[in-house]
Formats: sequence, structure tokens, C-alpha cells
Amino acid sequence: MNPTCKKRMGAIRLETMKVVAQEEIAPAIFELVLEGEMVEAMRAGQFLHLRVPDDAHLLRRPISISSIDKVNKQCHLIYRIEGTGTAIFSTLSQGDTLDVMGPQGNGFDLSDLDEQNQVLLVGGGIGVPPLLEVAKELHARGVKVVTVLGFATKDAVILETELAQYGQVFVTTDDGSYGIKGNVSVVINDLDSPFDAVYSCGAPGMMKYINQNFYDHPRAYLSLESRMACGMGACYACVLKVPESETVSQRVCEDGPVFRTGTVVL
Ligand SMILES: Cc1cc2nc3c(=O)[nH]c(=O)nc-3n(C[C@H](O)[C@H](O)[C@H](O)COP(=O)(O)OP(=O)(O)OC[C@H]3O[C@@H](n4cnc5c(N)ncnc54)[C@H](O)[C@@H]3O)c2cc1C
Ligand code: FES
Repeated sequence: MNPTCKKRMGAIRLETMKVVAQEEIAPAIFELVLEGEMVEAMRAGQFLHLRVPDDAHLLRRPISISSIDKVNKQCHLIYRIEGTGTAIFSTLSQGDTLDVMGPQGNGFDLSDLDEQNQVLLVGGGIGVPPLLEVAKELHARGVKVVTVLGFATKDAVILETELAQYGQVFVTTDDGSYGIKGNVSVVINDLDSPFDAVYSCGAPGMMKYINQNFYDHPRAYLSLESRMACGMGACYACVLKVPESETVSQRVCEDGPVFRTGTVVL
């Protein structure tokens, strides 16, 4: 570990990570590979808080960890250009460095699942990436993985082939230009297998559907987004309300981004 490029602030790590590769995998969607010591501490479902390498951008940008390679100390992030911060990330290339805070958040609970269990993964659009590491780790333990992905159009489809290595994958598109026409509910409502756990990440409408559909499921999880400032639990910019409470709230950056269904107000 290089002490000049890495320091610890309590549980928060700051590190200058190396850009190993970057590739545009779909229109305006990039896969960025970073290398550094921080990878050792990463878990599925956590995110990195990236400093935009431009002094005009004060706030870091949260991006989920898509896959983790502890042997080579590398992680993959997949992001879509939304504004100026992500546009600047897209200009990074091999050999550049990035100021990274993380790994942040709780991540998905993958405990106590083995070859006797079956899980459902549900991802929408740019919410699909964090599910890849979930599929990889559970498949390696013999868990049966079924994945349902929803995208707006054929152009936006990502990670179908990668996820298919770990189990059956259904793809839906809103306009029917690829896979099944409609949204993920068209597939999920027809799946009658009991799932021991459900892992999901996607747009607010999809998260509301999963929350309602699996409200009382003991192990159904939502990975949620919120605008963030500090990204480390201090500023309360990212809070969500808790059902039937006026006083208790949950911070997406610190208490999440993964929450059990029925535990936050969407
Ligand atoms: C926990 C978490 C994980 C995420 N993972 C991914 C991912 O894996 N891939 C991906 O493409 N995007 C992801 N996002 C969304 C991503 O953070 C935003 O798209 C990004 O911050 C936009 O920055 P920008 O400067 O390009 O856009 P701008 O619109 O210029 O950003 C302005 C400000 O708004 C914030 N902001 C804008 N959109 C969002 C958003 N959707 N969520 C949170 N803050 C936002 C920015 O961080 C910035 O502070 C995630 C968000 C969260 C909260
Ligand atoms: S962003 Fe500051 S508490 Fe979550």
C-alpha cells in the first residue's frame, strides 16, 4: 500500500486508483476498470464516490461497483453519461488516475445461500451493473440465479451475455425492439417459482413495483439512488422516510444503498 496516495478516515478510505481500461459498451454507457488496494474491501452492492477530475466540480459522483476481481485488485464500474461529471469520467483512459472514496454503503446481503436456494435478480437500465457481482458470487456457491432485465430500447441493453453465464436471463424492452415487449413485471408476474431472495436495482418506478410485489418477502432487497453530497453519512442530503414514522429516517449513502422491501417509503 502506498501511504502517499491512500489514507483512512475512520472507516472511509480515500485512494488514488489507476485507470486500467475504459470502453464505451453502449451509446453513452461506459465500462471503467480501476485498480487499487481498496478492491480488497469491496462487496457486491457497494458504491464508490468518485471525485470529478476538474476543480469546478466540488461534489463527488456515486457509481456502483459492477464487478470485483480481488486477485488482480481491479473493479469494474459501468455508468451512463448524465451531465458534466460523468462526461468528464468518459474522457479518462489507461494510465490516468482517479480520486476515489469508498467502498461506501452496506451492499447486498448474500449470506446463507447455497445450492439449495434460488434467487431472482431484477435490474433496470443503468441499475443492472451492481447485479453482475451478485450473480457471479451466488452462482459460484451453486445458487440458482434467474435474472429479469428491463431496458427502454435495444440500444440500451447491457450485460445480458455476462449475466447469462450465471443463469437464465429474460430481457424486456419498453418498445419491444428487443426481447419481450413491456417492463419486467410482464415476466415476473408469470414466474411461479418461490425465490429465497430477490435482489433489485433500477429506476424509481421499477423499485416501487418490486417494493410492492415483494413487500413482505423476508429477503427482498432494493438498491436505491438519491442525490448525495458528502456520501459518508454526515450531511443528511440523501434521507428516505421510514413507514409509519415521522422521526426516523434512513441515509441512502450510509444505511443503504440497499434496503429490504417495506422498510423505506418510496
Ligand atoms: C448509490 C448510487 C449508485 C449509483 N450507481 C450508478 C451506476 O452504477 N451507474 C450510473 O450510470 N449511475 C449511477 N448512479 C447515478 C450517478 O451518480 C449520476 O448519474 C451521476 O452522479 C451524475 O453526475 P453528472 O455530473 O454526470 O450529472 P449532473 O446532473 O451534472 O450532476 C449534478 C449533481 O447531481 C447528482 N446527481 C445527478 N443524477 C444523480 C442520480 N441519478 N443519483 C444521484 N445523484 C445524482 C450528481 O452526483 C451531482 O452532484 C448512482 C447513484 C447512486 C446514488
Ligand atoms: S450524502 Fe451526506 S448523509 Fe448521505
